[in-house]
Amino acid sequence: MRVRSLLLPALALFLLLFLLVSVMATTGQPQPVVINGTAVPPLPTLDASAVAAGERLYGQYCAACHGANLAGAADWKTQLADGSLPPPPHDSSGHTWHHADSLLLSITRDGGDVAANSRMPAFDGQLSDDEIWAILTFLKSRWGEEERKFQWWVTVTAGG
Ligand code: HEC
Repeated sequence: MRVRSLLLPALALFLLLFLLVSVMATTGQPQPVVINGTAVPPLPTLDASAVAAGERLYGQYCAACHGANLAGAADWKTQLADGSLPPPPHDSSGHTWHHADSLLLSITRDGGDVAANSRMPAFDGQLSDDEIWAILTFLKSRWGEEERKFQWWVTVTAGG
């Protein structure tokens, strides 16, 4: 008799808790990004003015090679005769999002690997670090959620 009278309140409590947890999971605080069992802070939101400035700069300095729509060269995976690679896409279909912020910044500032005959020019002297950062912020704004989370995770675990 006693057990039975407790059953209904217990069930109601359980349902209430379940609802509360579900609501918190969908509308609550941003969740940490967990990949390979390593958690990093939640994905930061992108600064809208940096995205806009980056889009303008990208059109001016990068689009000629990497494409106005970020699609890169058609055969970007096929080596050219001199051993260099054509410009890769900067959207989710490429591999820019595989790299940490510090590496993307240094490739853009200092240019590609000279030993590999890279045709990626250095923008040091033409673009400030802030301007390169804005371009990278624009690129991030065009990636899918999964690519952004991965690149954020790589950046944090690589130390910047
Ligand atoms: C003259 C053509 C040219 C221009 C202009 C150019 N790039 Fe590149 N970029 C390349 C080529 C070719 C590669 C591939 C070869 C390599 O990785 O060294 C490349 C590679 C890169 C990479 C490495 C990509 C990856 O997915 O790993 C980054 C980052 C990059 N470019 C950023 C930029 C940014 C930002 C701009 C504009 C400020 C820019 N590039 C302008 C030709 C160019």
